[in-house]
Amino acid sequence: MLVSATEMLKKARDGHYAVGQFNINNLEWTKAVLLTAEELKSPVILGVSEGAGKYMTGFKTVAAMVKAMVETLNITVPVALHLDHGTYEGAKACVEAGFSSIMFDGSHYPIEENIAKTTELVALAHANGLSIEAEVGSIGGEEDGVIGAGEVADPEECAKITSLGIDFLAAGIGNIHGVYPANWKGLDFEALDKIHNATDHIPLVLHGGTGIPADMIKKAISLGVSKINVNTECQLSFAAATRKYIEEGKDQQGKGFDPRKLLAPGTEAIKATVKEKMELFGSVGKA
Ligand code: G3H
Ligand code: ZN
Repeated sequence: MLVSATEMLKKARDGHYAVGQFNINNLEWTKAVLLTAEELKSPVILGVSEGAGKYMTGFKTVAAMVKAMVETLNITVPVALHLDHGTYEGAKACVEAGFSSIMFDGSHYPIEENIAKTTELVALAHANGLSIEAEVGSIGGEEDGVIGAGEVADPEECAKITSLGIDFLAAGIGNIHGVYPANWKGLDFEALDKIHNATDHIPLVLHGGTGIPADMIKKAISLGVSKINVNTECQLSFAAATRKYIEEGKDQQGKGFDPRKLLAPGTEAIKATVKEKMELFGSVGKA
């Protein structure tokens, strides 16, 4: 069954590792992430953006698919189904649909409205056994239509939002969605340390996990990051493996055009990327 992310992230914070959030985009993605987590005995968070939810015909479909797959694949590790970068309406819809965790991205509202909406959603989430993530500052770049300028979060604002009872916090520290530009200045560890201390060591979330160097990942974990989100890197590995399959003409050999064969190389590539990240984040064997 699905669990909220609260306990797994507190365990990760105290154990000085991070749990991966891997965004899912379809059945094959979901199966690849779940099977890899089970093989590595790692807790896992399945992230669903508003756009991916729509693409998969709605949050109710996603929740039903994930719950059924956890059962039919005999998944025993803790799995959280989490709305990623949720709107106020999307967050309420996911509580209704049977998700086990939500993110409310209120960073584009004036702080007072962000506080009012976050307070309401904290009460709704906790009354239904869900965990809730909030965001302060913003994550740079673009993710499924969510665009951010990449402002570094203010520790005082982080403390204010944390005091509303959220379970974990995404604080902008120079991280960017998508592929990092060559001139990227790196993560702002000074800001991260201040935020970690200003928020009473609440589990912190690092968005934009694609392509961040291993040493920065480990330093971020040492300063309180307990959840790391990855999407683009899985999409790039899926696309590269699928392109290779077609460029080698395998789709034209025998029944190579069968979608179950056509999607297989990309699905295996997702598994490899998820495995690499779980090993880097230190969550292997922590289920
Ligand atoms: O919200 C999702 C994550 O922040 C994904 O970021 O696509 O840069 O790995 P990424
Ligand atoms: Zn994100």
